[in-house]
Amino acid sequence: MRFSRPRGTQDILPPEIYLWRRVEGAFEATFERYGYEPVRTPIFESTDVFLRSVGEATDIVSKEMYTFLDRGGRSITLRPENTAAVIRAYLENGLHRRGGVSRLCYTGPMFRYDRPQAGRYRQFHQVGVEAIGSMSPILDVETIDVVVTALESLGFSGLTVKLNSVGCSVCRTPYTAILRRELERLSGRLCEDCVARTEKNPMRVFDCKRCVEVKNELPPISEHLCSDCAAHFASVKSHLDSLGRRYDVDPRLVRGLDYYTRTTFEILHGSLGAQNALCGGGRYDDLVEQCGGPPTPAVGFSAGLERIISVLPDGSGAAHLTESGPDFYLVCLDDSSAERALLAARTLRAFGKVEVDPSMRALKTQLRQAEKRGARVAVIVESASPRHVKWKDMSKREQFDVEDERLLEFAKKNFNDQAGR
Ligand code: HAM
Repeated sequence: MRFSRPRGTQDILPPEIYLWRRVEGAFEATFERYGYEPVRTPIFESTDVFLRSVGEATDIVSKEMYTFLDRGGRSITLRPENTAAVIRAYLENGLHRRGGVSRLCYTGPMFRYDRPQAGRYRQFHQVGVEAIGSMSPILDVETIDVVVTALESLGFSGLTVKLNSVGCSVCRTPYTAILRRELERLSGRLCEDCVARTEKNPMRVFDCKRCVEVKNELPPISEHLCSDCAAHFASVKSHLDSLGRRYDVDPRLVRGLDYYTRTTFEILHGSLGAQNALCGGGRYDDLVEQCGGPPTPAVGFSAGLERIISVLPDGSGAAHLTESGPDFYLVCLDDSSAERALLAARTLRAFGKVEVDPSMRALKTQLRQAEKRGARVAVIVESASPRHVKWKDMSKREQFDVEDERLLEFAKKNFNDQAGR
């Protein structure tokens, strides 16, 4: 074998692909019921789209982006996440002029040059929503509710949301000063990266996997919220209570992207190990304006499909793992019958899935293959019978001669569609 796939990527093949379709379908159906409309944005964007929004001091931007110059000398980045790209598209296409809330959803691949391990890939897939155009805590709660509902429709239960508020620019300025002072005091116990973060962006220290003990001694932002942010956080919690959605407040949940303001949340799954977040999201009230638009608050989440699929509860999709065989298996015995075989296949596709065997091998060999594929009916075409095909019911072991011209009529009478399976 001369080639292998790049590190940190996966081939998703049958039958597992059917599980993917089911999971994506469950999210799409839930999104639709909450009024979210699908969007597709490019897989690559100008690097600036992510630099400015996700933040230069974040791991994503400083270490994990696939960035390259294209042939025109422009700096291009494979999207490491989709929120910034959706906001770029929202502004560029004038969606902000529609008024009201724009509820957008998406699914697709993202790219991060991270150290591959279980649950962490270099190409991975997210589903997500962005609700743009309202400050209301109702929308924070809606985005949490929509992802939990979608996960429940896949059989997950007892999910807990980790919740926090990271405040806004008003409360963050004095808080950052307090945090910086604390970090300077504790600098001897910080890793090199966190020493640099103290100056550049002290809240990023909360992302550090090495400075765990120090993090627990730092004052959390949630204790330094301004009155508006505190009231917003209280409403989010009270609406979640009304909906019966469980959450645990985690005062140190800041998330690894700079654009968040106020609400942040993650949904964790116990059996995932170190990479245990199924989903992450939050409010980002300043991003639209930072991207050159009018002040427009927004909130959203993204969920990682690889992680969801790896811990899908039993019974939620296993049936889809058994690939369904073809309804018809077209056995063609000689080159001169190929045209008739193709025409018969076209006729039968009105009734179900048809697979044409192109091998011209012996009848017995092709029938064995039909059986192996799980076909319901084998249709045999050969020059020895120039005007009729043989219709062989694979389970009943019955066989009929059917004239080529009457195949449609015969199938109508004798073949029960998918429902009959
Ligand atoms: P994020 O927390 O960076 O947020 O990613 C969201 C989810 O994507 C994670 O919880 C995880 O399930 C999955 N994920 C992230 N990185 C990887 C990886 N290397 N391999 C496999 N799965 C991964 C965002 O991306 C934000 N855009 C979420 C958001 C939307 N916030 C507001 N709107």
